[in-house]
Amino acid sequence: MNDDWQRFIDTCKNCNACGLRQYAKNVVVYRGGLNAPLMVIGEGPGEQEDIKGLPFVGPSGMLLQNLLASYGLEGNNSHICNIVKCRPPNNRRPEPSEIRTCKQHLAAQFRLVRPKVILLCGSVAYEAFFGVKPVMREIRGVFIEKNGYYIMTTFHPAFALRNPQAKIPLYEDVGKVRELLEKLGELPPLEND
Ligand code: URA
Repeated sequence: MNDDWQRFIDTCKNCNACGLRQYAKNVVVYRGGLNAPLMVIGEGPGEQEDIKGLPFVGPSGMLLQNLLASYGLEGNNSHICNIVKCRPPNNRRPEPSEIRTCKQHLAAQFRLVRPKVILLCGSVAYEAFFGVKPVMREIRGVFIEKNGYYIMTTFHPAFALRNPQAKIPLYEDVGKVRELLEKLGELPPLEND
């Protein structure tokens, strides 16, 4: 890990810019590759993530992990993080002011990772990015191109755990992400066995 990354992580860990830090056990920055072609962004750490200091390691993380792994997008191929880096008490939605405050860290993280594709998980991530509440059935599964990178929003894995009918579209969306990364020359064709 180079100095820029270390400085970034230290900045996140020492941040008290919003009220969330006082309740959190850990500041949850990322897991996965530092220069991954895919950045996966969720809402905020839950209980397990807060305990372990890593994003998406609870039940919804297991689903996400399986989805990514089924397309060879696990490990160094993806950089997994959240809109806010500290757990909101009782897993409530992060407040707009908390999202605004934490966005400086996400922007710095984006500049370090330099992903080609961003997968936003759920409506909170979409709203944090685009500033408007999404109608999921209208925006889900579609790439938006911005300054040479591509953003797709899909269902949050926690939503798919509560609504199993969302699992297939979620799986298909991750498949589209793999396809695009191959088309962009970021990953080799997936070998089927
Ligand atoms: N839900 C999220 O949005 N992020 C996590 O890290 C875990 C659950």
